[in-house]
Amino acid sequence: MAIRKVGVVGCGLMGSGIAQVAAAAGFETVVREVTAELLDKGLKSIEKNLNRLAEKGTITEAVKGEIRGRLKGTTKVEELKDCDVIVEAIIEQLAAKRELFGALDVICQTSTIFASNTSSLTITEIANATKRPQRFVGLHFFNPVPMMKLVEVVRTIATEPAVYEEIVAFGARLGKTPVRAHDTTGFIVNRLLVPYLLDAIRALEEGVGSIEDLDNSMKLGCGHPMGPLTLLDFVGLDTTYYISQIMFDEFKERRFAAPPLLKRMVLAGWNGRKSGRGFYDYSDPQNPRAMKF
Ligand code: CAA
Repeated sequence: MAIRKVGVVGCGLMGSGIAQVAAAAGFETVVREVTAELLDKGLKSIEKNLNRLAEKGTITEAVKGEIRGRLKGTTKVEELKDCDVIVEAIIEQLAAKRELFGALDVICQTSTIFASNTSSLTITEIANATKRPQRFVGLHFFNPVPMMKLVEVVRTIATEPAVYEEIVAFGARLGKTPVRAHDTTGFIVNRLLVPYLLDAIRALEEGVGSIEDLDNSMKLGCGHPMGPLTLLDFVGLDTTYYISQIMFDEFKERRFAAPPLLKRMVLAGWNGRKSGRGFYDYSDPQNPRAMKF
């Protein structure tokens, strides 16, 4: 089957990025949000990214126009009915994803491949809300999607090998490096990243170093683009807390357990960059200041 038309459900941080890369890779792309306001916000962020690329000369004005021409926003799930692949990037809640895919299963042609961008939920448990678990995969992108070169392609025990290979090739056509993962909680990246991030919080709790020193150590000592506490603020403390709970529930290992400070920061609403405060204060976004605890 040739993939021509891509559907993306959710036009938030991840969905808008996925829609942008799909349209930029030459696919006719339809992105769906629940309200016109959320859709408008997502499409504006794509517009901003494309403008930045054009200003830098990475793409020409003509190419920008072509990408825009391939991208359509909608609030109607029915408009996804003739897509060859649908990538879901909605709220990270099992019930919401199952409900969405149950509805898409009825609307879409039987050949459509379904993919979820979930970072921590079990793909098999989402897939079994449909009658096509053999045409269901995980396609996990990284934030910011247009910049990060990786996509984890996840197969369940029910995924048909030919469908899986098609989606691995699709990941490459999106300009990403696909890695093959099984449907184990956290796949590859979060299996390794989450214990590292949680350990950085434990190190802070134990007084191993200050926020700035912990971050600078990993940035300058190991060449990471962001230190762990900056990365936690970037990913979102609420998101990391949620993922850690799912991973702890699955593996029952201390390395996945949320440190008390993380739980308290989430309870206080200090969710990182998006809430203006996390391990850093973002009142002046160009010049974040480390918090004092
Ligand atoms: N969208 C699109 N492009 C962006 C962007 C965004 N949100 N933010 C930055 N960029 C682009 C900039 O335009 C710039 O492009 P050029 O090099 O072409 O000029 C480039 O990224 C570098 O930007 P900056 O110079 O402003 O800043 P930087 O050098 O610090 O890079 C970064 C920013 C790419 C985010 C980099 O810091 C980085 O790679 N950080 C680590 C991000 C990471 O680890 N992400 C994965 C998180 S885990 C996850 O997503 C999965 C999960 O399940 C939790």
